[in-house]
Amino acid sequence: MPGKSIFYLLALIASSSYLTYTIVKSKNNDTPKRKKNVADLIGNTPMVRVNSLSEYTGCEIYAKLELANPGGSAKDRVALSVVRHFEEIGELVPGRGDVLFEGTSGSTGISFAMLCNALGYTAHICLPDDTSNEKLQLLESYGAEIEKVKPASIVDPNQYVNAARKGALNLKNDKSTLANGVFANQFENDNNWRAHYATTGPEIWEQMNYDIDYFVTGSGTGGTIAGCSRYLKSVSNKIKVFLADPQGSGMFNRVKYGVMYDCVEKEGTRRRHQVDTLIEGVGLNRITHNFLQGEHCVDDAVRVTDDEAIRMARYLSSNDGLFVGSSSCINAVAAVKIAQNSKPGSKIVMIACDSGTRHLSKFWKEALKIDKNITLEQVLE
Ligand SMILES: Cc1ncc(COP(=O)(O)O)c(C=O)c1O
Repeated sequence: MPGKSIFYLLALIASSSYLTYTIVKSKNNDTPKRKKNVADLIGNTPMVRVNSLSEYTGCEIYAKLELANPGGSAKDRVALSVVRHFEEIGELVPGRGDVLFEGTSGSTGISFAMLCNALGYTAHICLPDDTSNEKLQLLESYGAEIEKVKPASIVDPNQYVNAARKGALNLKNDKSTLANGVFANQFENDNNWRAHYATTGPEIWEQMNYDIDYFVTGSGTGGTIAGCSRYLKSVSNKIKVFLADPQGSGMFNRVKYGVMYDCVEKEGTRRRHQVDTLIEGVGLNRITHNFLQGEHCVDDAVRVTDDEAIRMARYLSSNDGLFVGSSSCINAVAAVKIAQNSKPGSKIVMIACDSGTRHLSKFWKEALKIDKNITLEQVLE
């Protein structure tokens, strides 16, 4: 009888949607409030226990999922803080045709591109012409103005950061238009570390119920480690901050021994990229203004090889369903190494900076070659 079958079908649909609703609801009691725009979605990212690493080490290892920001990384917070500051001082006014210039081959450009669209500005991103396709396509999809320049040293006036600075100045001085140009300058801009001091740090502290033993992350501009560690040290004197550093970076020696040096800098051994690693976004051979703002809060450093990070990528994806980018993986390796040298039950927080989708063509291409059943012992070999 068709009437009866329709009744059964409707009953089935109703009960399955109720079931889905109760499953989702029971896991998520804090339904986020609706927001006015994308800018309001930035921050308040989730914290998740990394079960495989916690069980193996006997410590509590948690990942702060910065990849859950609307632009896909912690750089959203920095972009918002930089833009709001320019608005406060009248340098950016929505709808006037103002352009924000930044030199970046990383996530920052994507965050600025997203935010500028949402707030009424244009993002002009200068980047090296060998920037990965994933990032270029994302910038193109947001419709950002893209200026590709040849990779060059920071002292070269045509280097991408210097190109961005020059572009902003040219527009600022252009009397034929009302539009203003500003240079975001994430490496030197204090609104970078301050964004993490004001938001990421307090969120971590609250999410961990005011009890953390170790905080670990890498350093690119240094904004995340400086801002978070300054905040965390201001609320607890037991927290130890560790820098996770990729191979080829001089930061490890800077933290450990006060000297910025890596053996790849030996005469005749320098390669095409100053920091020769597959890891993107972290590791440098120069000290940045933002790192300096929190250097006194960084207690120790862990060096992680590319091989360890690649194996960890595969391991986290297979065991925890965490599909993360390269810098998150060095943080995870460092977190395990810290756990192995600390008392059971210690609480360790690492930053999961961005998703693996940003790294498919390079880092994850290598990670896919690893057996998905790899053990943690093999990861750390
Ligand atoms: C993927 C990724 N992870 C980590 C970082 C490092 O963050 P910070 O610049 O705050 O040191 C960056 C910086 O661009 C990044 O792009």
